[in-house]
Amino acid sequence: MRRAIYPGSFDPVTNGHLDIIERGCKLFDEIIISILINPEKQPFFTVEERREMLDEVVKTISKGRCAVRVDSFTGLLVKYAVAQQAEVIVRGIRAISDYEYEFQMALMNRRLEPGIETVFMMPAETYSYVSSRLVKEVFQLGGTVSGLVPPLIEKRMKEKLNQG
Ligand code: PNS
Repeated sequence: MRRAIYPGSFDPVTNGHLDIIERGCKLFDEIIISILINPEKQPFFTVEERREMLDEVVKTISKGRCAVRVDSFTGLLVKYAVAQQAEVIVRGIRAISDYEYEFQMALMNRRLEPGIETVFMMPAETYSYVSSRLVKEVFQLGGTVSGLVPPLIEKRMKEKLNQG
């Protein structure tokens, strides 16, 4: 039984994230998508909204026999991973620019919890420039994000913006 944690902010989930989850499903029996509860950040969507949206969109991807569930966590990621009895942390790497930060996190996490491995996965080239941060920026400035996030997420972003 190979259980992996796929942690992140997912504010919002992009097609790049879903691509990583699909790929991860070929390697693991279970993936827990874990949203960091970060009181210091002012998010676009609340944790509850992100959880609910992730639950919806993961229904639409191909998972094979892999079980995918959505959760949230606070505090140290490795502590949470141990509590979930997961052996692996999955992180998506898009470009070399991601690498330095991810490398530092992976080694720090290994120092804190040597029993947990970090696995880096690359999304399809189509998504190599897609990030939640850019999606939000483009959207808030009136640009289109269709094709970068699932249609449901685009709809929710429009609703959120209209709410003010
Ligand atoms: O989607 P993000 O914002 O790049 O995800 C970053 C995340 C959630 C993986 C990272 O901030 C994290 O693990 N935070 C939990 C706190 C923690 O364990 N910090 C030490 C990391 S070495």
